[in-house]
Amino acid sequence: MKVLVTGGAGFIGSNFVRWIAEHRPSWQVAVIDNLSYAGNFENIASCVGEGGVRFVEGDICDRGIVNKLLAGGSFDYLFHFAAESHVDRSILGAAPFVQTNVVGTEVLLTAARANGVGRFIHVSTDEVYGSLGETGSFTEESPLMPSSPYSASKAGSDLLALAFAHTYGQDIIVTRCTNNYGPYQFPEKFIPLFVTNALEEKELPLYGDGLNVRSWIHVTDHCRAVAMIAEGGRSGTVYNIGGGLEFEKPNREVAELILSHLGKDTSLIRYVTDRLGHDRRYSVDAARLRHELGWSPLVAFERGIVDTISWFQENRQWWERIKSGAYRDFYRQNYGSRG
Ligand code: NAD
Ligand code: TYD
Repeated sequence: MKVLVTGGAGFIGSNFVRWIAEHRPSWQVAVIDNLSYAGNFENIASCVGEGGVRFVEGDICDRGIVNKLLAGGSFDYLFHFAAESHVDRSILGAAPFVQTNVVGTEVLLTAARANGVGRFIHVSTDEVYGSLGETGSFTEESPLMPSSPYSASKAGSDLLALAFAHTYGQDIIVTRCTNNYGPYQFPEKFIPLFVTNALEEKELPLYGDGLNVRSWIHVTDHCRAVAMIAEGGRSGTVYNIGGGLEFEKPNREVAELILSHLGKDTSLIRYVTDRLGHDRRYSVDAARLRHELGWSPLVAFERGIVDTISWFQENRQWWERIKSGAYRDFYRQNYGSRG
């Protein structure tokens, strides 16, 4: 199989490249990534070159680069992970989200059609369904009601992908996964930010009352689901990806668990002004994926979070280099006014 991974230097994309190397070693992999603030070549350096992976530094919005890559590739699968992915950044400025997530997806879909890509897997998020109260879960038939510029741009790209499938008969599948965590996650997202701040004896900035709920999936379970969907999923279909209710945790509980595991005091938690339009709870029903393809998560949250904390303890250099760079400007802008 020849496969293209967009956004392969980011958190989930780089975990997916490593997952392929271990579980689908016969696949020939190419990656396109423009190494934005969230892309880090180091994440896949060991896989590139002698590791077998071909790396192309390029913007998915650049029709010329994308067409050239796809024309020469004869790709069986295109896994589309590249995106602007951080809700807080989308609140500070929506333009890059519309550009990469909507325009970039259109460029890829059009080039995939022109160049005969076998199957296009559009990797999306449960956030497109919007926020839930304390009960209930979204199915693939639930209406899209995104509430942040990030989720609105992802919903736009989902609809484009499904429209291309319907209009042109392209082989396209959309996946919608819950919140991921694990190694190589950029340290401005909730779990890696809180783990690394705790390791540095810095405050943990908990938004609002700390009782917003997220459903946490280990990144390797997401990667396995995406591969299984590519190999056995139905064309033109949406698949939710997520564990059951036992994977749902209020943010405060996760913060306390991280501190307790690191032997730190809960006084490090600092309640700060809430995120604008903060979604209260996300939850998906992944029955379709379970019943059709037999997928279920292999990593319990309680084990995965401990492994992830250990990874950040053992890979201090990786995140210290990031935190000392451009990341700092975002940190000041986002947290400077939160009181
Ligand atoms: P990330 O921000 O860590 O990585 C995104 C990658 O895309 C980076 O390597 C970045 O350099 C690259 N990229 C950004 N703009 C690009 C452009 N214009 N051209 C080429 N490359 C570009 O994000 P992530 O957390 O790994 O998320 C990957 C995908 O999974 C996204 O589509 C996201 O919406 C989706 N998703 C993420 C989560 C989560 O919890 N992180 C959950 C569900 C779905
Ligand atoms: P995040 O990792 O940004 O993912 P998303 O908003 O896409 O779910 O945030 C996860 C949860 O953690 C969300 O409810 C917001 C909260 N949060 C904080 O309380 N403090 C923080 O500094 C961050 C980044 C997030």
